[in-house]
Amino acid sequence: MKKIMILGDPVEHSLSPIMHNTAFNYLNLEKEFQYGKMRVSLDGLAAFVELIRMGNIYGASVTIPHKIAIKDYVDKMTKEAKLIGAVNTIYVEDDGQKKIVGHNTDGIGCLSALKEQGVKIQGKKVAIIGAGGAARAIAFTFALNDPKQISIINRTEEKAKFLAEEIRSKTKALVVGSSIKRSHEVIKNSDIIINTTSVGMKGHESGKSLIDPELLNSTQVVMDIIYIPEKTKLLSDAEEKGCKIINGVGMLVHQGAEAFKIWTGKNAPIEIMKQTVLNTLRL
Ligand code: ATR
Repeated sequence: MKKIMILGDPVEHSLSPIMHNTAFNYLNLEKEFQYGKMRVSLDGLAAFVELIRMGNIYGASVTIPHKIAIKDYVDKMTKEAKLIGAVNTIYVEDDGQKKIVGHNTDGIGCLSALKEQGVKIQGKKVAIIGAGGAARAIAFTFALNDPKQISIINRTEEKAKFLAEEIRSKTKALVVGSSIKRSHEVIKNSDIIINTTSVGMKGHESGKSLIDPELLNSTQVVMDIIYIPEKTKLLSDAEEKGCKIINGVGMLVHQGAEAFKIWTGKNAPIEIMKQTVLNTLRL
């Protein structure tokens, strides 16, 4: 039995265990793989990685607050994880010698969620709200997919400018950073707007949105990476303005599906995973 764990603090409410275990069952892999959760504080990271090294744990998903700290404990990082500067998936590479590898599927998960809805990044002006860990993964991944422009828009302007500068220095994309207050024109002129902050999430300023609805129009795609609630204030404002709206369920499922493929070597049953997440959210 290969055990996979979600590593975070807290992890109690994570949807990843039910999503992955249902997928294992669906592909008759339940005797081979089992997905559990482990609440681990910063002090416990070294011991957790040791469990992987000893073969007690086969792989892991990494979530808040360990996505950056875990970099110091893995043996190797994939080029995606290096570029993004954070890890959300761990697997073991064994070519005679075991190596613990840190990978990141958050950006590709977001890109696939958009693609699934018929939305491409190529040639588009994208506004990313926030400049934290999720924004980094999304912005770096988008930067490699030929956008016309990426605008990082954040409450704290220096963080937006700093991230934009870092992405410009590592990719060929046109990336700018600015504060939310000074970005009204940019938002108005963006083709795709993505909220990566926790504003609007249940328990975190639920019912609030960082974007003035007057800046939205029906030609735009508005995505929120939040999935609780399924329709945030931002998404309901955007829907009212006639925008195409996409919530965070797709990104959750697709980042998981990428990891599933790495651990099992099989394509993930994406629709089953999505239905499981939706059913659990609606319980
Ligand atoms: P994550 O890893 O989930 O992206 P994070 O790294 O803590 O989380 O980043 C949180 C992001 O949400 C930041 O961009 C933060 O803005 P600041 O850099 O100004 O702190 C943004 N954020 C959180 N609460 C916010 C609020 N009430 N208003 C505006 N932005 C907020």
